[in-house]
Amino acid sequence: MDTRWAIFGTGGISAKFVSGLRHAKGAKPQLVVSRSAESGRRFAQAFGIPEVAEGYDSVTAASPFDVAYIATPPSEHARHAIACIEAGKAVLIEKPFASSVAEARRIADAARAQGVFCMEAMWTRFNPAARRLRDLIRDGAIGEVRQAHGAFCFTNKPDAANTSFDPQRGGGALAQLGVYPISLLHWLFGAPEGVEAFGRIGDTGVEEDAAISLRFAGGAVATVNTSLRALGDNGLRIGGTHGSIAFEGPIFRPYGVRVQRMAPRRKGSDTGLGRKALLREQGLPQKLSQWHGLLTRSGKVDRQLFAGNGYHYQVEEVGRCLAAGLQESPEMTLADSIAVMETMDTVRERIGGQGK
Ligand SMILES: NC(=O)c1ccc[n+]([C@@H]2O[C@H](COP(=O)([O-])OP(=O)(O)OC[C@H]3O[C@@H](n4cnc5c(N)ncnc54)[C@H](OP(=O)(O)O)[C@@H]3O)[C@@H](O)[C@H]2O)c1
Repeated sequence: MDTRWAIFGTGGISAKFVSGLRHAKGAKPQLVVSRSAESGRRFAQAFGIPEVAEGYDSVTAASPFDVAYIATPPSEHARHAIACIEAGKAVLIEKPFASSVAEARRIADAARAQGVFCMEAMWTRFNPAARRLRDLIRDGAIGEVRQAHGAFCFTNKPDAANTSFDPQRGGGALAQLGVYPISLLHWLFGAPEGVEAFGRIGDTGVEEDAAISLRFAGGAVATVNTSLRALGDNGLRIGGTHGSIAFEGPIFRPYGVRVQRMAPRRKGSDTGLGRKALLREQGLPQKLSQWHGLLTRSGKVDRQLFAGNGYHYQVEEVGRCLAAGLQESPEMTLADSIAVMETMDTVRERIGGQGK
């Protein structure tokens, strides 16, 4: 029998998620839960979902679903998720897992106490390109990892009515966007040992920009940029002693990886005085090299196209875990969601005193 999903919240991400759910095997949307019956019905009609529940408190053990997808603002995640968990329902909770590490721990404790499956909907971890990137790094494709950079920055008009800019609902660049590169770096290298950050708080009281430095066990270092007010490169790149590997496509929905290999150079072996070296510095070779750079890009692309809109991979992971009787996904554990929240809380602490 198909796993029956309840959709909590009728915002834009719920619509994308339900569109994606269609591509998942063994899953169907059964119920929409909304603050208002009218918006619940509108959403249910748009996607052919059979049932609607009015009010997030209306959910009980008898409600007709197996897994709740919690897509309400971050400030509501703990309340809505714990209510479902206490009703014995499995939960998939949108990122960020909660609005603080204390809330994240409360959700995890409730899930463990009830023996109920619980996972953060960090869908990018289940994207084929992300998995390929991790496998290539593990296989030593770029040697010893020493550097990484991730960015997720978009430009928006500040608007206190929007969750992204509302501190009460858990907004801010970190919660909305920065959590993606931070979570991917945790997934690849574990929780960082050191966290430093600079940032800027906007008029509505949320951090609108942040530049973060992370240091991992073993010495690898990373930078993360996130912004609600500026556009960024929105990529992920990992640098090692024998090359680099980067997402092809945006960090939230990559469709391949680009691998550039390079053996370590022996510094100082080029005096710059040889005939070839001197010729290389002339105008014509420089012009040719610029055109070559503009017309070609270095590295080899390993295409990893995602199916549907990419949201169903996490749904299939939930299905796999439930079938195996697991209470956590090995790819997105509760400890990991808590550790990501710890990193985010530290960044917010660092930025908090820095002003506008
Ligand atoms: N994975 C992704 O790609 C992705 C993308 C965007 C956002 N997200 C995450 O998804 C979650 C929801 O994001 P969103 O942008 O859709 O949020 P939103 O538009 O602010 O809220 C989503 C829905 O939550 C319900 N809701 C419940 N309590 C609410 C309250 N106090 N204030 C406002 N709405 C409330 C509303 O539905 P009803 O009116 O039906 O109750 C609303 O439409 C967040 O955790 C966000 O970080 C994930």
